Amino acid sequence: MKLTTLPEWTALLDHYDTHKHLHLRDLFAGDPERAKSLSLQAGDIFADYSKNRLTTDTLELLFDLARATGVEKLRDEMFAGAHINTTEDRAVLHTALRRQSADPLLVDGVDVAADVRGVLEQMGGFATAVRSGSWTGHTGKRIKTVINLGIGGSDLGPVMAVNALRYYSQRDITLKFVSNIDSTHLVEATRDLDPAETLFIIASKTFTTDETMTNARSARDWLVAGLGDETAVAKHFVALSTNATEVKKFGIDPANMFGFWDWVGGRYSLTSAIGLSLMISIGPDHFRELLAGFDVMDEHFRTAPLEQNLPVILGLIGIWYTNFFGSETEAILPYDQYLDRFAAYLQQANMESNGKSITKSGQSVDYATAPVVWGEPGTNGQHAFYQLIHQGTHLIPADFIGFMKPLNPLGEHHPKLIANLFAQTEALAFGKTAAEVQSEGVAAELVAHKTFAGNHPTNTILMPSLTPHTLGQLIALYEHKIFVQGAVWQINSFDQWGVELGKKLATTIYGEFKSDDHKTGHDSSTQQLIDRFLDQR
Ligand code: F6P
Repeated sequence: MKLTTLPEWTALLDHYDTHKHLHLRDLFAGDPERAKSLSLQAGDIFADYSKNRLTTDTLELLFDLARATGVEKLRDEMFAGAHINTTEDRAVLHTALRRQSADPLLVDGVDVAADVRGVLEQMGGFATAVRSGSWTGHTGKRIKTVINLGIGGSDLGPVMAVNALRYYSQRDITLKFVSNIDSTHLVEATRDLDPAETLFIIASKTFTTDETMTNARSARDWLVAGLGDETAVAKHFVALSTNATEVKKFGIDPANMFGFWDWVGGRYSLTSAIGLSLMISIGPDHFRELLAGFDVMDEHFRTAPLEQNLPVILGLIGIWYTNFFGSETEAILPYDQYLDRFAAYLQQANMESNGKSITKSGQSVDYATAPVVWGEPGTNGQHAFYQLIHQGTHLIPADFIGFMKPLNPLGEHHPKLIANLFAQTEALAFGKTAAEVQSEGVAAELVAHKTFAGNHPTNTILMPSLTPHTLGQLIALYEHKIFVQGAVWQINSFDQWGVELGKKLATTIYGEFKSDDHKTGHDSSTQQLIDRFLDQR
């Protein structure tokens, strides 16, 4: 049955009609217990979702929708290793990468838990050797800089987490990330580096991604030119991949390849071998704490009833805004500088997973799917784009993320930071009425300008402090929120066919740049751009 004809969907439509004008001011005034009843603790994460434009009846209807669309069934299938990525006929088992249980986990007849443990041990041994200096470069020098060459999920997860956990890092090793095929990225990253002290990690699930392989070949040229010896590659390149054949072809010793499996999606791969750069940065013990944190949220998601299940609740609230209020974007606003790449990471997780318009059974959807996800750390955003959230014309649901204890306490910085976080959610929810503005003696012609309508929805997500363990819980919370939304929308959250067409056309156009015949039937605009480049480059 089509989603939009389900009785649970139409019940929500009716409910929206009667509730869309409710104001958070009235909802809070009418229920002194609102904050308490619309908050939840899951692991170390406390979430206050009371500043949303909904009532407990709304949530009931949303839970009904989740049940009707089979969210629980799909969740159980995912954890059991069923091939829920139907268009690629694959299991979706990133949860197996961080599973703390010692029991075997059989998928298609293979104990994947044992495989996962094996690679983790291999990673631990290598990371420890690099960190201790016992792994040296070709000339015997210690490794001082590690450069991860990868893109998409093979970049965004590690770079986000290395930044997030920099406090726990070994400071005499610098981590860099090169993703863009623009040579500037690699050239600037390697400028002034000594190749003898540089290790490249080629992170690519497929080992065929053009951006990564082009960067990898140029990095190899840079290294060989610098050290004057082809055989130096062995001590300066390792690979993270599922494609042993291509890794070997590139010239990397299979002993220095860290494997993973087709049931790990690129954007869900941080806790696989793709996390090697992070492990080198923070060490195997912290990496294991991160995995244990993920597992706390995985278990919560797997076992908690829908009504007390945080990823389910946040996912359904997102659906309330996307599909009924028609909001098109979602802001991620972490009040912690270490989380400066968190929104970028969630952008891929969300938009590549749920930016789909065809259901699993091949029908076009007649409802909106993934929101546009964006954000910057607070308080910077306050002086950039919050104006639009407060007084613009868009409805932008926002998640505010903060930590109770700072990692770098300094004077009054932290209480001021957190005061800003709380103040923003208060201002967004309650605004300031014209009467309140007038009562402050504001000139009549300025009253409208200084009035804040309020009623802007937010979730506030608080944790004790930023540790590998809490970061793991936070990432898993969002992964599962995305899962819930994809399940309700009846789409496959685990493929990404939308990246293919551009890739293919780029290959064609690049081929034309190199051939004599450039007239291969493009539209007049594309042809004009190609001609201009060929003339002016
Ligand atoms: O953007 C498409 C994509 O396939 C992502 O899903 C993936 O994270 C990225 O490219 C990189 O792929 P690979 O790890 O195979 O190089």
